[in-house]
Amino acid sequence: MSTANGEEGTNGSGVREFELGDAEFRFLAAFLSRETGIVLSAHKRQMVCGRLVKRLRHLKLRSFADYCDFLRGHDSGSEVEHMVNAITTNITNFFREPHHFEHLRRTVLLPRTTERPQRPRLRLWSAGCSSGEEPYSIAMTVADTLRAGDGWDALILATDIDTNMLNRGAAGIYPLEAAGNIPEGYRKRFLRRLPHDADRMQMADELRQSIRFKKLNLHHQWPMKGPFDAIFCRNVAIYFDKATQVGLFNRFADVLAMGGILYLGHAESLIGVSDRFEVSDKTAYRRIK
Ligand SMILES: C[S@@+](CC[C@H](N)C(=O)[O-])C[C@H]1O[C@@H](n2cnc3c(N)ncnc32)[C@H](O)[C@@H]1O
Repeated sequence: MSTANGEEGTNGSGVREFELGDAEFRFLAAFLSRETGIVLSAHKRQMVCGRLVKRLRHLKLRSFADYCDFLRGHDSGSEVEHMVNAITTNITNFFREPHHFEHLRRTVLLPRTTERPQRPRLRLWSAGCSSGEEPYSIAMTVADTLRAGDGWDALILATDIDTNMLNRGAAGIYPLEAAGNIPEGYRKRFLRRLPHDADRMQMADELRQSIRFKKLNLHHQWPMKGPFDAIFCRNVAIYFDKATQVGLFNRFADVLAMGGILYLGHAESLIGVSDRFEVSDKTAYRRIK
């Protein structure tokens, strides 16, 4: 990462401006793990240094030791949010791992279309939604599969710990090149050009109204009880240790409907982590207990 001020952590002439020592790294790693469940191994030290340097500059602090003292202090409440926002890895994309959206259509949505209740209810959750590409991909799949006239009570909950990402998701405005991953038919149907901004587009109101963006730390208590028809928690638990994963997947099972689906990232697995699911498809798990 580089800035107008040179490489992160340097003063622009290549001289390192802030050093992150062992004791400070250990403190920050323990602090972050307690707050978020994210585990920072030793090789992440440079990354942490680079991402937090702007916080030190903003707070006009002279060293990471001062920053640690600041976090220990009583008035550090809002700094915790800035720190978490700076440290989280938010890489995402529209229709990332597209087989999941096809599975959602085939296994979760289509079977529901034969039901005949007055107002069929559908609840989906994108847990660790980053800047919104994942919940919008879910929303496009839902809008394309369910007939609007059938009176669906369909809602997508999109949560993340990172408030900057949630604000982006709620705005639903993305650079044009990001749309490249959206199937062409959906692009035509669900994207709007912005007046006076040729480089970005906005998701249609129909989609934005079907998603609720909310701040939620997966490590804390959850206000919602479910039951959810499907939960996407992809490329999030990979940053947690095994004990945290075990607890998290157990809680997902508690709020999933029996038979509901949990989607994980391509490098994540429930094998040896939870016996409350069976494999439904590649990194898609069905709740059985
Ligand atoms: C790599 S992104 C994954 C985005 C999306 N699910 C995907 O697969 O494209 C991981 C997200 O998890 C969020 N996250 C990390 N720890 C979290 C926690 N304890 N509670 C809620 N969200 C968390 C991060 O802020 C980040 O936006």
